[in-house]
Parts: sequence; C-alpha cells; structure tokens
Amino acid sequence: MKILVTGGTGFIGSHTVVELQEAGYQPVILDNLYNSNKEVLTGLKAITGRDTPFYEIDSTDEAAVRKLFETEKFDGVIHFAAYKAVGESVAEPLKYYENNLGSLIVLLKVMKDFGVSNFVFSSSCTVYGQPDVLPVTEDTPRQPATSPYGNTKAISEDIIRDHVYAKPGLKALSLRYFNPVGAHPSAEIGELPSGVPSNLVPYLTQAAAGLREKLVVFGDDYDTPDGTCIRDFIHVVDLAKAHVKALELLNRQPETNFYDVFNVGTGQGNTVLELIETFERANGVKLNYTIGPRRPGDVEKIWAQSDKANSKLAWKTEKTLEDSLRDAWRWQQKITKG
Ligand code: WQD
Repeated sequence: MKILVTGGTGFIGSHTVVELQEAGYQPVILDNLYNSNKEVLTGLKAITGRDTPFYEIDSTDEAAVRKLFETEKFDGVIHFAAYKAVGESVAEPLKYYENNLGSLIVLLKVMKDFGVSNFVFSSSCTVYGQPDVLPVTEDTPRQPATSPYGNTKAISEDIIRDHVYAKPGLKALSLRYFNPVGAHPSAEIGELPSGVPSNLVPYLTQAAAGLREKLVVFGDDYDTPDGTCIRDFIHVVDLAKAHVKALELLNRQPETNFYDVFNVGTGQGNTVLELIETFERANGVKLNYTIGPRRPGDVEKIWAQSDKANSKLAWKTEKTLEDSLRDAWRWQQKITKG
C-alpha cells in the first residue's frame, strides 16, 4: 500500500517513513524542506536500503498536490507537514493559520476528489492545555489553546471530524503526541532543529556537546516533586510505530465515515531534572545546567493515559527514557562530528 507522508523529511515524519517501509508499506514523501533538508533521504536509504520517492512540494499548493495525486495512486495519507514553533506562532499567527490549516484543507479536498480514504493526522497534547486531572485521557476536555500553533492543532481536529461526518467514505485518526524525543538507534536520522532549539532535548544534547554554554532549566518552583515541569517523553521510534498501527486500524474499518482520536504517549511523566539525571547516567556525561526563570506559557505538568491506543491500536511504547536519551546523544555526537 502506497502512503503519502507529508513532512516526511522532518523529525517524526522521517522516523515514520522507516517504520512504514519495515512494515511493508510504500511511503512517498512530500516536503517543502522549510524545516528539514534532503540529507535526510540519504539517512533513510542507509536504514531501509531503498530510495524513498520524494517530491519537493508545499502542501498548501493545491495544483501541485493534485498533480502528485494524478502521478501516484495513494492508499492513505499521514499528514505531518506543519509549522510547529510555539513561540514563533505567537509572533506570526497568520503564517501558522494559513500554512497549517491551508495544507490540511488542500489535502482533504484532493483526497476526496481522488477517492483516497485513509488519513492520519499529527495532532498534539497541547490541545489539553493544563489539564485539571492527570493523566489525560482522550475524553479530557480540550482547553483553549495557549498558542496559535496549539490552536491550529485543535481547529485541524475539528475540520477533519466535520469533513469525515459530512462526506462518508473518509476514515481519519488524530494522534495527539506528547513530547517526542530521541533518534533512530542507527544514528542515520534524528532531530535537526534549525537555529537555537526551543525544545528541551536538542538543546540539552547541544549543551552536552559543547555547542551551547549550558542548559537553562525554565523554573523549579512548580508544584511537582522537584519543582521542575513534568512531561511525557516518548521515543520517536515508538511514536513512529503508532502511525503504522493507526493505518492498520483504518484499513480494518468498513468503507464508511470513521473518526477517532488517540493519545500517543508513554503513560509516564518525568520532570525536567529527572530527564537530565537520566541523560547523565545513561551516557556517563556531566551536563552544565542552571535553573532559570519559568518560560511563559509552559504547562506545569502533563502526561498521557494511553490505554486506548494500547488496546485499540494494539500499540504500546517499547523504549525507555534512557533509550531515548542514549539515542539522542549518539545522534548529537554524530552530527557534531559532521
Ligand atoms: C519541555 C520542558 C520546558 C527547553 C512543545 C509543544 C508541543 C510539541 C513539543 C511540537 C518544559 C523545559 C525546555 C529548555 C527547559 N511541539 N525546557 N529548558 O513545551 O512541552 O512542548 O514541544 O510538536 O506541542 O508545546 O516541549 O521541549 O519545549 O519543553 O527547561 O531550554 O522542558 O520548560 O517544561 P513542550 P519543550
């Protein structure tokens, strides 16, 4: 089965291409390389032994997307392509709404016209805001978004749901990611943040590699065991495998309208300091870090209940936080060496 992976040269997209290939699917990548580079294709070939078909297309370009659907007959679409920098979205909301919602609408329209019925969407736990009860389940009420980025994810879920129920024949899932971390164990692909990383683990590994003077922990006065924020850090390979399971669930559905949502997390929360300690222990390196002020907009604590994905997707995490941080460090050392 041929699967279109938009954003397939990105962090989660590239790892999902590997798992799709290994599960016998034929992934095809659509990416505009805005936040990734073609070198990823070399890494994918090193892992899979094959050239993954790649089309440099902007997923908001309807004519180009249509032309691709005329060229390739897809059995499904996994949609990763989106801008994802929380801070930037606050400064540039229109850029985020236009790109993230525009690309989704183009894809749904073109899929409908070409009779492609299986759709997996990359959503985020950010739709939960700061939950009152933890862990969060899929029934936990969504809270008003804390950023335009987060709002595009919530609105996208609603667009997909409304479209599915209006136009029978489409089967769609939204996967709500928690905090994807780590890299492929082969160190052939991993996270390639552009500029100064805003996410914790890439900044941490750059600091450990001496590319950054130190890591600043954003606040230790939260209501948590050690005062630092709690997150559900999931290995990117486990997250990638969840997408294969999601496609399998859609393939099992009768050809009618079907929409569902899954939390994709480990089900365990760790504090930022626990992550740092795990990184130091797993890799035998000492990290230079200090405690700084809170980062505005940060959620204090959130982690998933993934029972629904465990049962309905027949998926669960296999890798530990230590695995994630060992793989992240191996990848950082490789790209630092160049
Ligand atoms: C994690 C924790 C920070 C950097 C965001 C988006 C989410 C998804 C993942 C795109 C927080 C702390 C961080 C640093 C720190 N985005 N931290 N020092 O904010 O949980 O989630 O990224 O898919 O939708 O909301 O991830 O890695 O930025 O932060 O102390 O230099 O690490 O305060 O507690 P976050 P993060």
